[in-house]
Order: sequence, then structure tokens, then C-alpha cells
Amino acid sequence: MATITEDINTALVETPTIATKNLYIESYGCAMNFSDSEIIASILSKEGYKNTSTETDADVIFLNTCAIRDNAENRIWTRLKDLKHRKKANPNLVVGVLGCMAERLKAKLIDQEKLVDIVVGPDAYKDLPNLLEKVEDGHKAVNVLLSREETYAEITPVRLNTNGINAFISIMRGCDNMCSFCVVPFTRGRERSRDAHSIVAEAKDLSERGYKEVTLLGQNVDSYKWASSENDSTTVNFAQLLEMVAKVDPTMRVRFSTSHPKDITDEVIYTIAKYENICNYIHLPIQSGSSRVLKLMNRTYDREWFIERTNKIREIIPNCGISTDIITGFCTETEEDHKETLSIMEWAQFDFSYMYFYSERPGTLAARKYEDDVPLEVKKRRLQEVIDLQHNISKKKNAAHIGKVVSVLAEGNSKKSENDLKGRSDENAMVVFPKGNAKPGDYVNVLIERTTTTSLIGKIVD
Ligand code: SAH
Ligand code: SF4
Ligand code: F3S
Repeated sequence: MATITEDINTALVETPTIATKNLYIESYGCAMNFSDSEIIASILSKEGYKNTSTETDADVIFLNTCAIRDNAENRIWTRLKDLKHRKKANPNLVVGVLGCMAERLKAKLIDQEKLVDIVVGPDAYKDLPNLLEKVEDGHKAVNVLLSREETYAEITPVRLNTNGINAFISIMRGCDNMCSFCVVPFTRGRERSRDAHSIVAEAKDLSERGYKEVTLLGQNVDSYKWASSENDSTTVNFAQLLEMVAKVDPTMRVRFSTSHPKDITDEVIYTIAKYENICNYIHLPIQSGSSRVLKLMNRTYDREWFIERTNKIREIIPNCGISTDIITGFCTETEEDHKETLSIMEWAQFDFSYMYFYSERPGTLAARKYEDDVPLEVKKRRLQEVIDLQHNISKKKNAAHIGKVVSVLAEGNSKKSENDLKGRSDENAMVVFPKGNAKPGDYVNVLIERTTTTSLIGKIVD
């Protein structure tokens, strides 16, 4: 999902009750994991755990981990080594590995690193209070059971690191797609959709608390499907859910991630076009421009299909922002295949791309069936070519905004100056401008005066 930031999120508090212990959560990987950390914080706040953003104050340290590529896991191993010193200084410190790497490696994490006390997979967070009790009694604790039902629908997340403006709402869990390169179906289990009414209730609550933008999250949002009971023939699909959330508050923006090219429907595209507050932006991962490679990846669409879907989006929403994910050097990828990736990037003119070289994941279809035969230097060289091309495209696309006015939701101070605000346009471009009288949470019109590869820079106009 969008999606990969691999950033560290240190947790800040919103609603502690009778606090007896300090909990520090670090999140890695995609937005789904950041959203899960808010569910974990909520479950444990009821048990008297108070969130802290200072690692040194912590009684419990949780790493909510990602397993998508080898380097995502390497980062966690390095981090665990760091934590050894902390545990030496405070032997009562509890260290937990949660999330996708916990699910992939299970009890091995405890065997290999004496330091880890608790290992919990993405569907077992409600068991955390019991597991922590076990640890207090001097045992190691593991729960990596995957569920076909768990959606944490009734849990109100404790918003971590919040700016009070943007929030994630998880609408589904797991993935049934089995793209051959991908570990997610193994770490997050079967796809299931969350109760539509609980999603709308969460959006309402956020709107009442002054939030201005929600992002609906799932690995493949277009396959969202929910019915109130198994016998209920009236199901809610993703287009209908989008509409329900858009109607909650016309001044609250709605975004979503991730769309799958095989599943995005005309109904979804028309729904985006119909509602002013559904942002004109779609993250549509292509992975490769070669139909032959797409087939090996088990993406179940080809180059032509992707072109047709993109044309449809642009026909119905002419200025729609489109971003993508690309993998270079997948098994058997030739120079010709790689050129097809470059040529579809030229054709599609993505606003932005998340780009990676292929990293074989144990247990996946590709690891079992195909040889990881593209040498690392070739994978990296192709990746660099993809990155260079995307930079040129982004630069050119950004420059085309000069002289235009864009509507921006101000989100906070810009990184470089306290006198400037940053925010995103409807199409998801980052925009920086002098504050004037505006404050975070305001919608402002910004005249674009200059641009960089990553942002648009301008001034507020009426
Ligand atoms: N559900 C989303 C993607 C989730 S993973 C979708 O279907 O598009 C986010 C991205 O990580 C993927 O789109 C892919 O580009 C990348 N990725 C996944 N597995 C990978 C692997 N084994 N090696 C390199 N990149 C990978
Ligand atoms: Fe992985 Fe494919 Fe599912 Fe995305 S759709 S999470 S890439 S298996
Ligand atoms: Fe997300 Fe990484 Fe898991 S991308 S779903 S945290 S493997």
C-alpha cells in the first residue's frame, strides 16, 4: 500500500486513563501498520498503558514491523541490536516485535534474539493484555494466529503523532491476490472487509473532532465488499462506501489507498468525479510495463489493460493525479522488459512513483517457482534508470502548474521554515507557501510561482 514510508513513527498520547506503565511504539512499513499501531495503543490504553514518545521512559517497547523487502527486515535486526543496551540497563524492560515480520518469523524471533519477550501478529492484538501478563510472570509470549474475521471494527484508534487534520481509517485487512513477489498474503492473511457502518461512524467522529481529511486503507480497496450478515444480499461495495464516507462531511476530504489496476471499476471512478470532497488522486501500482513479467508476477492484468484503465480515469477525471509502484529486476526480466517499463512510464506520466528493486521473499510463489536470476547490479542500474525518468517526469509535471491556482489543505509548518505552511492539493501534490493569516486545517488557494521535483511553491490568493 501507499504507501511505503518505512519511516519511524514515535507515538504521542491522546487519551490515557489510569496510567501505570509507559508504552513506546515504533511503526515501520505501510500506512496499514501505522494505523494498526493506533489500534494497539487503544487496546492497551484500557489496561493502563500510557503512550510515550520518549524511548528512555518506556516500560514496554514495541516495534511494529514490515517484511515487504529484505532491507525492511534488516532495519529491524539493527534496531533490536540497539535495544540490547537498553535492556541491559533496565532488565524489566519488555521488548515486543509486532506486525508483518512477527507474523513471518514467529517464535524464531525469540529464539534468535534473547532480547525479544513478545511476538504478536497483525490479527492478534486483542490478546496483547494477556500476553503482557504472561511476560510479567516471567514467560515469553507469542500469538501469531491469523483470523478470517478480525477487523478491529469496534476499536476506536488512539490517534498517534496526530496533527488533528489527517487520519487513516482501516476499511479492510489481508489480501487474497497472491502476487507472486509479495509476502503480504502470508503476513496478513485472508482478505476481509470491515463493517461499513463502523467505518462511517469513525469518519463522523473524526469530522466532529475537527479532522479535515481521512484516508481509507486496504491492500486492494477496490475489492471491498461488506454485507451485514452472510444471508444478506445487500452488500456495500467500494464505490458505495466511498460515497457513504464522502457524505459524512462535505468539508472533509476523502482519500484512499491502494487501488489495484485489475479491480478499479468505472463506478469508483465516477464516484470520485461526482463528489467534490473525494480527492482526484489514485495510487495505481503497475509494478512492470511488460505483459510477460506481469503474468509471472501474477498481477492478472497486462499492459493494454493498464493503459485502458488509465485512459478511463483521465477521460472521467481529466486532471486526476496518478501515482504508482514499480519493481525492477523481477525474475527473468530482460532489457526489453525493462524498456517496456520505461516506455509505459513515459506514456502514463505518473505524478509520483514508489520504486524498488526486486527482493525475493521466502515462501512466496516467485521464491518457490522462479529463479531470482537478475544480478543485483543490474536490478540497481535499472532502478536508477526508473528513478531518473520519474524525476524528470515529476519535474516537468510540477512545472506545468506554474501560474495556476490550486486548492490546498494546510497541514502544518513546512520542513524548512516556520514562516511557511505545507499542504497537499486535491491531486496530492505537495505545496509550500508563506503562512499569511492561514493556519493548519484551513483550505487556501495558492498561486504556484515555482516548482521543484517534489513540490509546488507559491503564495495564497483570494
Ligand atoms: N497492495 C498493494 C501493494 C502493497 S506492497 C498493491 O497491490 O499494489 C507495496 C509495494 O511494495 C508493492 O506495490 C510493490 O511495488 C513493492 N513490493 C512488494 N513486494 C516486493 C518485493 N518482494 N520486492 C520489491 N518490492 C516489493
Ligand atoms: Fe501484495 Fe499483490 Fe496483495 Fe498488493 S495486491 S498486497 S502486491 S499480493
Ligand atoms: Fe505493510 Fe510491510 Fe506488512 S508493507 S502490510 S507492513 S509487509
